[in-house]
Amino acid sequence: MPYRLTAPAPGWTTSTDVVVIGSGVAGLTVALNARKAGLRAMVVTKAVLDEGSTRWAQGGIAAALGEGDTPEQHLQDTLVAGAGLCDEEAVRALVTEGPDAVRRLIETGAEFDLDEDGEIVLTREGGHHRRRIAHAGGDATGAEIERALVAAVEADPGLELIEHALVLDLLTDAEGHASGVTLHVMGEGQRDGVGAILARAVVLATGGMGQVYSATTNPAVSTGDGVALALRAGAEVTDLEFVQFHPTVLFLGPDAQGQQPLVSEAVRGEGAHLVDADGVRFMVGQHELAELAPRDIVAKAIIRRTHAHGTRHMYLDGRHFGAEMWEHRFPTILAACRAHGIDPVTEPIPVSPAAHHASGGVRTDLHGRTTVPGLYACGEVACTGVHGANRLASNSLLEGLVFAERIAADLAALNAAGRLPARTVTTDAARAATPVPLLPEAARGEIQQLMTSGAGVLRSAESLAATAKGLAALADPADGAAPSVETWEATNLHQVATALTTSAALRQETRGCHWREDFPDRDDAHWHRHVVHPLAG
Ligand code: SIN
Repeated sequence: MPYRLTAPAPGWTTSTDVVVIGSGVAGLTVALNARKAGLRAMVVTKAVLDEGSTRWAQGGIAAALGEGDTPEQHLQDTLVAGAGLCDEEAVRALVTEGPDAVRRLIETGAEFDLDEDGEIVLTREGGHHRRRIAHAGGDATGAEIERALVAAVEADPGLELIEHALVLDLLTDAEGHASGVTLHVMGEGQRDGVGAILARAVVLATGGMGQVYSATTNPAVSTGDGVALALRAGAEVTDLEFVQFHPTVLFLGPDAQGQQPLVSEAVRGEGAHLVDADGVRFMVGQHELAELAPRDIVAKAIIRRTHAHGTRHMYLDGRHFGAEMWEHRFPTILAACRAHGIDPVTEPIPVSPAAHHASGGVRTDLHGRTTVPGLYACGEVACTGVHGANRLASNSLLEGLVFAERIAADLAALNAAGRLPARTVTTDAARAATPVPLLPEAARGEIQQLMTSGAGVLRSAESLAATAKGLAALADPADGAAPSVETWEATNLHQVATALTTSAALRQETRGCHWREDFPDRDDAHWHRHVVHPLAG
């Protein structure tokens, strides 16, 4: 794979100690903690500071904070959801460090919903045997966490920000150590256009890749830029086939495209029922947790039921909550439903699964280090091993938080030991001469259609081969488009979609959120493992 996107040579250069790409919970936590360790830090974000996926998270953040709950129980639920592919050591770090990380987030200023005794109110979500999800503003947890972190960032004038900037590629020194990034700033003034940031360490916190599908809960900026950059940089990327489809996304019609309104699992956690058009609760009897079974199981049950009934969606019935509960506990969801002409107080909500979360990503160790020295990854872009084949609900904000703290601690320790030197940049002329030809802007929609029809919730060798063929046909090197944000994004989506489809075709079993129609069973004898497969070239 060529190691860089087609782009003009950098017209400006700046430098810092740690450059963090992305401004969700993971990116901002790394940057704030790096600053506390005395390092210079710069945050680069694609839109404005609070535009990424974090602010859309509704349900909450999972941690063993409740009476009688323990990290061990949280670990067990996470391992079960992960369907045999979690890295137990990573999960242990997550669940044991999680409660204190949440307390530190509160010290930073995040305000979670409290009961009348001032204790954090905890709810349940799919796969959790206990109430362990802390939430804020009812169903606006991510927005509150992002608000608190952005306020902390803005209170530190030494933390430099570059907004409206699309990261392009990794820069490395002669030893292959990450030494910065190239990026394109979509602004005007001193830092307009393509430039370079030189740094002693690079942290990818670019979020997810939901935009490879037609319908997703992810915002428009989630185009897999971090995973694509890592692939081009030669970093190992793993578990891409495990894309989690959230079971209950507001159904806006079969042709709905782009970001769709989420109906949090917490709605089921508080007692809403999944029903078919006849009002039958079809999850009862399918799993001991019924509507609160792990997400992959609920998504599959919905798809099966829609196929059996020849329809496109099921319903989530929370009419028994009453108006007051809807208004206080789920104000965001209530407003989103009403904006689309559905009133959950008086009618069931039409729901169907949509792409939600990438359980895989850039492979890291327990300190967030990727296989490229000096390159770290954190949050949804990373595969730390905590999610396995299927992420447990509300573990992702926690993962972003805990592993961001771990990365910052690693950087601080390296710095203290004098092992975080300034780096130079080396250009490998042969590789630089063959940049990736860019896809036209229109390719984005074609990629989304191909992925949705052949590599979505249901997959088979046949459907994946058709998707792979369609993707290959889009990548005509003779027909490179001119560099622009749209063509860079389309190219990133294409590279990620290609890797995802390859992974999904290789894994000939059904496990977690990877559902093969032609291999319907889990096959531990052959597939109880992660796969890193070298791409051609
Ligand atoms: C939700 O609120 O259902 C989403 C939470 C998550 O994805 O972890």
